[in-house]
Amino acid sequence: MSDDRVRVFDTTLRDGEQSPGINLNSQEKLHIAYQLAALGVDIIEAGFPAASPGDAEAVRLIAEKVKGPIIAGLSRTRREDIRAAFEAVKYGERPRIHVFIATSDIHMQYKLKMTREEVLEEIRSAVGYAKSLVADVEFSAEDGSRSDPEFLIEAFKVAADCGATTLNLPDTVGYAIPEEFGDFFSRVMKGVGREDVIWSVHCHDDLGLAVANSLVAVKAGARQVECTINGIGERAGNASLEEIVMALRTRKEYFGTETGINTTHLYPTSRLVSRLTGFVIPPNKAVVGDNAFSHEAGIHQHGVLCDKRTYEIMRPQDVGAPDTKLVLGKHSGRHAFSERIKGLGYHLNEEEMAKAFVLFKDLCDKKGIVSDGDIEALVVDEILGGAT
Ligand code: KIV
Ligand code: ZN
Repeated sequence: MSDDRVRVFDTTLRDGEQSPGINLNSQEKLHIAYQLAALGVDIIEAGFPAASPGDAEAVRLIAEKVKGPIIAGLSRTRREDIRAAFEAVKYGERPRIHVFIATSDIHMQYKLKMTREEVLEEIRSAVGYAKSLVADVEFSAEDGSRSDPEFLIEAFKVAADCGATTLNLPDTVGYAIPEEFGDFFSRVMKGVGREDVIWSVHCHDDLGLAVANSLVAVKAGARQVECTINGIGERAGNASLEEIVMALRTRKEYFGTETGINTTHLYPTSRLVSRLTGFVIPPNKAVVGDNAFSHEAGIHQHGVLCDKRTYEIMRPQDVGAPDTKLVLGKHSGRHAFSERIKGLGYHLNEEEMAKAFVLFKDLCDKKGIVSDGDIEALVVDEILGGAT
């Protein structure tokens, strides 16, 4: 994997766990962290140690036990936060402290009640202090996408001068629009003008654009994407890891870069996170939803039976999902129906098949989706007169 690849920074256990309604204990977090390591993420943001003793304990446990990925802990610019993050991640092979402060006027004025100069000073002292503790420091400009670009450039320059090696530009409130965000990202990168840092993007999904915005940032030069399994996170969630990874893989010729993720672990990881968080995966969820590789319409089923590539741009086995499903319902055609009958081991002549198809359509109108058991009953009882 070349140095130009996109690093995957998974924040399921930090931003994802901030979803209202999710509360994972340390053992559950550890279980997910092992799975994230198997998936091949580059960085696991394991929590926000200053937020609670439980969070600090989970980050420490993950740093101690999970080998492979960098283990990061989030921190505000306060010294005691940075210390708490350090105390939790220091047991890891490759610890990272992730320091953030807001840079938009609205956040600085109403939330932080700080001037621009004061914010720059906070960045200077916080990043400098974190750097005295660990070699790997990331700086995030919260609400970056709504910040004055010239001030944002200044803030990132200060962070890089004080030792931050990853600079993260978040779309904290999911306000960005892809084309505009791509230009904004390029302008800021160019303004900072540092070749020795990794640029990172972190998008929220308030307008359903988190993945699109992350991808335009990659196109502009970001080489770290911050995302969560199943897109869980604050409010409408974060950019979904599985969608970003598969978009970069499926359209590699467009992006010219990829991640190092073992994509066959995507589906099992998605299931695990869903089970432990209690957040169900919508059937139509891209890449990992139950319907992602299911086809009901007759024309589609016919195409898939001829060659799967007619209606599938990814192979289910590449994401570790069960094989393509042809769901039999009222939109299904004769071709898929007769293939299913043969698959179930029945050999009907033309006349029997025609009769069975009419009965099948009647059943679809009553039931919606028709199962293998329904088809067997129909064939045995109505066509073969009870004989098997
Ligand atoms: O959304 C955000 O800005 C964040 C930062 C802490 C990176 O989660
Ligand atoms: Zn966030």
